[in-house]
Amino acid sequence: ASLGGRNTVMRNLISLSDLAPDDLARIVARAVQFGRDGVAEPTLTGRRVGIYFSKSSTRTRTSFWSGATRLGADTITYGPDDLQLVTGETLEDTARVLGQYLDALVVRTNGPLEEMRRLGSSNRLAVVNALSIEEHPTQAIADLATLTEEFGDLDGRHVLCVGEGNSSGSALALAAALTPGLRLTLLCPPGYEVPDEVFATVDRLGNGSAKVEQITEPADVKGPVDAVYTSRWQTMGVAKKDPNWLAAFDGFRIDGEFLDRVGARHTVFLHDLPAVRGQEVTDEVLDGAQSRAWRQAHHKMTAAMAVLEWCMTSDVR
Ligand code: CP
Repeated sequence: ASLGGRNTVMRNLISLSDLAPDDLARIVARAVQFGRDGVAEPTLTGRRVGIYFSKSSTRTRTSFWSGATRLGADTITYGPDDLQLVTGETLEDTARVLGQYLDALVVRTNGPLEEMRRLGSSNRLAVVNALSIEEHPTQAIADLATLTEEFGDLDGRHVLCVGEGNSSGSALALAAALTPGLRLTLLCPPGYEVPDEVFATVDRLGNGSAKVEQITEPADVKGPVDAVYTSRWQTMGVAKKDPNWLAAFDGFRIDGEFLDRVGARHTVFLHDLPAVRGQEVTDEVLDGAQSRAWRQAHHKMTAAMAVLEWCMTSDVR
C-alpha cells in the first residue's frame, strides 16, 4: 500500500529485543539525521497517530506529538481517564477498534510490557512502547542518537550508567547488545540492579559477545569512560519500599569529582530527565560544559520521528 507517496508498513516497537541490529542502527541514524538536518519532507502525511499516556510525562508525550505533527501526521492524545479501558474494555477490543481509525498508538501505562503486547497483537495498528515497567525503548534510541552525534561510530566507546537499574538502564543494556562494539557498564546499588532476565536477553541479542556488565561498587569503575549516564533514583517519582533506601545510593551521585575520577576531558554526561537536582546529579554537572542532557532531551523528538517513520513506512534509511 502507498500513502502520501510512501510505502506503508505496520510494525510495533514494543521492546528493543524485537529489533534486528540493522533496524536499530537505521532508526538511530535517522534520528541523528533529523537532529542535523531537521525535517526535509512530511513523510507521515495522511497517517493518524494516537498518543495514550496513563502516566505523567513531560518529554515523551510532547515529543511524540511534536515529532508526528512535524512529519505531517494528525494526532489525538488520550490521558489516563479518556479511553474506556478505565471502565473495563479489554486491551484487545480497544486495539481492534482504534486500529480502524489510527495507524499507530504510542502508549505509556502503569502496567507491564505484556499490556503493550496485547495491544500490538491486534495487528491493526502499530504500537509504540513509550515506557513500561520493564523497558523504555524510545529513550534508549534518543540516548544512542545523542552518543552517535557526539562520537560518530560507537564501536569501542564505553558508557557508564549509574543509579537504579530502571527501565532506561534496561533499555540501554538491550540497545548496547544490538550495537556492535559498544561497551556498557551498569553501576547500580546492591538491591537496585537491572533484572537478571535483561542480561539473559542481552546475551541472546549479542550472541554472547555483548559488552554489557553490571557492578555495584563505585570504586570498581575502570575508566576513563566516554559517557556517564544517570537517572532519577526514584524512577517516575515512585517511593521505594525500604524507608532507608537512600543509604544504598551513597557514593552514586554524579558530581564534578565523580566525573573527573571516571572520565577524561572528552567525557560527556547524560541524564534521561527529569532530574532531582542535588540528589543523583549536581547542578555543576547537569548544567556544565560536559552535559549533553539537554541535547539528549532534543533527541527524544528526533527519536520519536524516526520510530514513527519506521513503524509506518518502509522508507527509513
Ligand atoms: N525521559 C522521559 O521519559 O521523560 P518523561 O517522563 O518526561 O517523558
